[in-house]
Amino acid sequence: MRDLVLKLFFILFLLFTLSVSSAKKSFKPKQPCKDLVLYYHDTLFNGTDVANATSAAATDPTKLGNFKFGMLVVFDDPMTKDNHLLSRPVARAQGFYFYDKKSTYTAWFAFTLIFNSTKHKGTLNIMGADLMTEETRDFSVVGGTGDFFMARGIATIHTDTFQGDYYFRLKMDIKLYECY
Ligand SMILES: *[C@@H]1O[C@H](CO)[C@@H](O)[C@H](O)[C@H]1NC(C)=O
Ligand SMILES: *[C@@H]1O[C@H](CO)[C@@H](O)[C@H](O)[C@H]1NC(C)=O
Ligand SMILES: *[C@@H]1O[C@H](CO)[C@@H](O)[C@H](O)[C@H]1NC(C)=O
Repeated sequence: MRDLVLKLFFILFLLFTLSVSSAKKSFKPKQPCKDLVLYYHDTLFNGTDVANATSAAATDPTKLGNFKFGMLVVFDDPMTKDNHLLSRPVARAQGFYFYDKKSTYTAWFAFTLIFNSTKHKGTLNIMGADLMTEETRDFSVVGGTGDFFMARGIATIHTDTFQGDYYFRLKMDIKLYECY
């Protein structure tokens, strides 16, 4: 009888340690299942460059602070594999951003990357806060369709260049952690 109780305790102890170690495993940082590096080019309409502009301010900035608070920009911007504006786009970024802080430049982005090439067909939906003073910022990839069915991940963005008020380029490192 005592033997049996000891054995039972031993088995329970084993089961306990096993379940603890397997619970630990699930906290290991995951490797991305897909990594895409793309450049986003935003050419803001200046009133005359209709042929070249791909975004436009849909609202004027308010008078709250000096950092364009409240200005909403709608865009249909090309996404390229290298940082040349005139390279063949591999996707379009369609969505908007608006300036949302009165004491510095920050914006909030929500957009869809639309892929329509022989390599990729589908969409990635991305949103997040752009704290422009930070070297890099993270947007959330909240979903996807087509080749990116149910995708989730993080898009790390970095301002690659900023040329006056009318052109800027972001490098986006899009890492997906859920792929199907
Ligand atoms: C708008 O941009 C175009 C192309 O860069 C430039 O030729 C034109 O002078 C600009 N217009 C204004 C009003 O800044
Ligand atoms: C605007 O686009 C045309 C082609 O559509 C190009 O020839 C011209 O150089 C562009 N202008 C600027 C200022 O980028
Ligand atoms: C995708 O590309 C094909 C072929 O160029 C075109 O017929 C189709 O309209 C495009 N679809 C979208 C959503 O842009």
